[in-house]
Amino acid sequence: MPKADDALSILKHDHEQVKKLFKKIEAEEGQETTFNQIKVALELHATIEEEIFYPAVKKARSEEVKDEVREAYEEHKQVKALLAAIAEILPTEESYSAKIKVLKDDVDHHIREEEGEMFADARKYLRAAKLEQLGSQMQARKDELQAITEAEPGASGERKTTSRTEKSKEA
Ligand SMILES: [Fe+2]
Ligand SMILES: [Fe+2]
Repeated sequence: MPKADDALSILKHDHEQVKKLFKKIEAEEGQETTFNQIKVALELHATIEEEIFYPAVKKARSEEVKDEVREAYEEHKQVKALLAAIAEILPTEESYSAKIKVLKDDVDHHIREEEGEMFADARKYLRAAKLEQLGSQMQARKDELQAITEAEPGASGERKTTSRTEKSKEA
């Protein structure tokens, strides 16, 4: 049995956290504070996967696994683009909740593929000790990124009004 802090446990824990935030935002009908929490959580999660987990999985001697990782990178790009697009608009805008819904569907799909395929392959191609080592690396990187994010103004779900206020002035 893998230890509680191996790479896959850390990533699954992140997935659960994001799923909860999506449930929350749906119940709130698109609350901006929750959106900012989702954005921060997804960006952080994507970073530790892209920097540490995906490169390790991509070393597997299997074209199929390499393809899974390539697809995952592309899905991250889509999710990030959507996060950026939502951050640019106000919750009162007509397309806001539709965009949140598409984001949730994309993220659900991505999580299903990771947990259903990539994690199984990671277990197949990486040793337990390697998964634990990747887990520690990811946790350390996450802590570091979290500290940076918390030090930024507008982090932890506060409203980021500046850019939009400036934009509406220009308009
Ligand atoms: Fe993930
Ligand atoms: Fe991912």
